[in-house]
Amino acid sequence: MADFVRLTIAWYTENSRDLPWRSTKNPYFIWLSEVILQQTRVDQGRKYYENFTKTYPSVNDLANAAEENVLKLWQGLGYYSRARNLHKTAQIIANDYKGQFPNDYKQILQLKGIGPYTAAAIASFAFDLPHAAVDGNVYRILSRYFGIDLAIDSTAGKKAFQALADSLIPADNAAIYNQAIMEFGALQCTQNNPNCSNCPLFESCDSGRSQLYLQRPVKEKKTKVTKRYFHYFHFESPTGTAIKKRSNEGIWENLYEFPLIETLEKSLDNKLLTDKTIQPVLLFETKHILSHQHIYAHFYRVKQMPASLEYEVVDQLKMHDLPMHRLMEKYFEHISSGK
Ligand code: ADE
Repeated sequence: MADFVRLTIAWYTENSRDLPWRSTKNPYFIWLSEVILQQTRVDQGRKYYENFTKTYPSVNDLANAAEENVLKLWQGLGYYSRARNLHKTAQIIANDYKGQFPNDYKQILQLKGIGPYTAAAIASFAFDLPHAAVDGNVYRILSRYFGIDLAIDSTAGKKAFQALADSLIPADNAAIYNQAIMEFGALQCTQNNPNCSNCPLFESCDSGRSQLYLQRPVKEKKTKVTKRYFHYFHFESPTGTAIKKRSNEGIWENLYEFPLIETLEKSLDNKLLTDKTIQPVLLFETKHILSHQHIYAHFYRVKQMPASLEYEVVDQLKMHDLPMHRLMEKYFEHISSGK
């Protein structure tokens, strides 16, 4: 065990990337980085991290922001409830903790939207407390190195991995070790293509020589995926375009989008159009993949305004100031590329 920790830290010392959230002990910045990195990869996350820390340099600044502006800055990362929780939790820290981020693991864990992983990451990176941050990287590495085939999505599996991870944490080096194991997972012991031929842990790893690494970690359940068919209408008239805010339930809560008809089959039945005078022209089709839903999206242009009053009419340019989901962005990217 001690070998595992020593070798991982030694590897990290030689191979770590210079990332902005690694040169700070500010718990608020670390929290921001972790929430962003749960949504995206490091290269893209860096840009969001820089935008957030520049726009809201303190937790009080984030607390005082309008939710719509926070969502706008989050745009493109998806899973908007994370951004909303970030904002709400900033308000709790501003009000209940006088803007001072709590420095105790249990108190951090009680904050809305912060689970055991993020609490441990903040506690160790910001305050050097000996808590193991167990994310997907850590499950993968521990299951491979120690040869553990308990399912990581089972209660028993989660408990066993957390206990093992806790037992490995060096009391005097928790921050570096947590960074090291995550980085090792991101760069060396990757999901589909681990670099076993040049790995300092190969000799003592249970999966290297046996080549069992692709079977690990083991999962119990397959994610159930629902297919959905969306038809969006880009109304264009001299007065602007029609948009609607999604409800506060389901995917993309409270984000803006074009008028939408959802169908059970792929094709759009014109009988569903309430306004029979419109002549939609299909401009763009794409498959948009979310964790539990595959959305087959169609975007139609309509050169007039809808008769329905249930939509807001906004200037085409102003529309881009509103928070929109990734699928809408994909459409705009498509039409601006002139394809
Ligand atoms: N992914 C999640 N947290 C991370 C961190 N602190 N550094 C790099 N990748 C991460």
